[in-house]
Amino acid sequence: MENTFFCCQIDFATSEAAEALIIRNEILRKPLQLSYNPEDIEHEWDSVHLGVFLSDHTMIGTLILKPLTQDVIKMRQVAISSEWQGRGIGKLLVSYSEDFAAKLGFSSIELHARMSAVPFYTSLEYQIKGDVFSEVGIEHLKMFKYLNSTSES
Ligand SMILES: CC(C)(COP(=O)(O)OP(=O)(O)OC[C@H]1O[C@@H](n2cnc3c(N)ncnc32)[C@H](O)[C@@H]1OP(=O)(O)O)[C@@H](O)C(=O)NCCC(=O)NCCS
Repeated sequence: MENTFFCCQIDFATSEAAEALIIRNEILRKPLQLSYNPEDIEHEWDSVHLGVFLSDHTMIGTLILKPLTQDVIKMRQVAISSEWQGRGIGKLLVSYSEDFAAKLGFSSIELHARMSAVPFYTSLEYQIKGDVFSEVGIEHLKMFKYLNSTSES
């Protein structure tokens, strides 16, 4: 049977947010021999947390959108469970988050892409801005995308 997926918002400090943190830790921190401190998470209350789920509600990916200004929102912590990578799930979640941000009134998304993920964001029409820099001990590039305005309220 073919899998179906859906994306939706996750409330901060809920069991779903804890589930998202497990995925983030596995995919984004463990490979760097790092882990999250409570302080890393506490300041995320002002961000939009999104997840992608199987039809049985198993979470298989997550990301965060943090407002930077009235116009710009930052995409952070993009992580798809390893067994689901390379199957279009990241693309689905990023597209959903772009629509979500546009509906909130943001006109662009920026992000810090690990070098290994730059081709993923390029394939989704994000552009590189500036030079390589180091974050969490690895090289990154700043990328951005202008969002199409939406007529929906
Ligand atoms: C990077 C990541 C979010 C991408 O999600 P994904 O579900 O694996 O990617 P998708 O299958 O949706 O790929 C979408 C497109 O990007 C391309 N793509 C994805 N990863 C790629 C890579 N490393 N190199 C080249 N192209 C890539 C795919 O070929 C696909 O292109 P298509 O639409 O033309 O077929 C996911 O692999 C992941 O969680 N990686 C580890 C954590 C990470 O690096 N997070 C980002 C931190 S900045």
